[in-house]
Parts: sequence; structure tokens; C-alpha cells
Amino acid sequence: MAILKVARMGNPVLRVRADEVPMAEIKSPRIQKLIQDLKDTMEEYGGIGIAAPQVHESLRISIVRIPANSERYPDAEESPLQIFINPIVEVLDSTEQTFWEGCLSVPDMRGLVSRPRHIRITGLDETGAKVQIEAEDFLATVYQHEFDHLDGILYVDRAQPKTLSFQAEYDKYWAGTGLESLDD
Ligand code: NI
Repeated sequence: MAILKVARMGNPVLRVRADEVPMAEIKSPRIQKLIQDLKDTMEEYGGIGIAAPQVHESLRISIVRIPANSERYPDAEESPLQIFINPIVEVLDSTEQTFWEGCLSVPDMRGLVSRPRHIRITGLDETGAKVQIEAEDFLATVYQHEFDHLDGILYVDRAQPKTLSFQAEYDKYWAGTGLESLDD
């Protein structure tokens, strides 16, 4: 078990397109350890998702897990741990939905971001098996946020600029305004 240091905004590793993981390397000790460390790091910091570039590994791997009855996300529907390697996203419904987003790489900030509400994701899991799922609503936003990390995009690039808020000001003026918040 290892908790890795999280790269913060300004670190170039967050701004480049991450590399595909070759199929033959998925089961290698290096990639398997990275996946375990990503899980440990996400849990340590209370995130609901994390992507490899956030731990200084420019590889197309990300993880999402929304715990049941989460204190931080009481209205979010539970979603079991899912690992995606080399994911591809297809938009099934481009109607936009808006949520407050945050990011472990942009600490203590929030901003409102609009994204398509329904997507299909195709990728590989930690064993190299093909996985395909659909995600809607809040979960669709979480995945899109995570996969943006694989393309060097941060939520602040997509946020409505005038909504960017420090956490304390978010808590004071915006929390509980009806839109869920995510932090990964
Ligand atoms: Ni993030």
C-alpha cells in the first residue's frame, strides 16, 4: 500500500495527453502496483475518482468509486469501484447538466461545469478484459472529469469562470444550492 503525492495545477504532467497502456503491460507488476496505489491515494484523500496523471504517471488509467451513504456526497448514487484503462467515451445524450466540481489537483476550489448527461464508456479493466458501461447524471460527470485528466484538461478549463470559488466561500455562499458537488 502506498499513498502517492498528488500533482497540483501548474505541474506539466497534468497538461499533456497521457499515453495508452499497452495491452501486454496491464498485468505487469508496475501497472498493477500503480492501480493499487491509485486506489489507496483516492481513498486517503476522500476522492471519488482519480487519474494516473494526478500521481505523476502519464498513463491512460482512471478509477471511479462512489461509496454508499457518502458523507461528502449524500445525494450521489453509489457506484462500485471501476477501473478504466485506455477509455473511449461516446456521448449518448448531449443534453448538458451542471454540477459543482472540485479536484484533488486543484485543492480548496469549486466551480460549476456543464457536461453531457449520458455517455457510454469502452475500455479495459485491470485484468485487460474489455469493459463497457453507460453512465448518466452525476456519474457521467464524474467519469468525464476523470477522463479529461487523461487529455491534459482540468475542470477549471470548462468551468463557468465567474463561479470559481474557494472552498470556504463555496461553503458559505453556494453549498446546498441544489447541485451536487464532486471532488476528484
Ligand atoms: Ni480531478
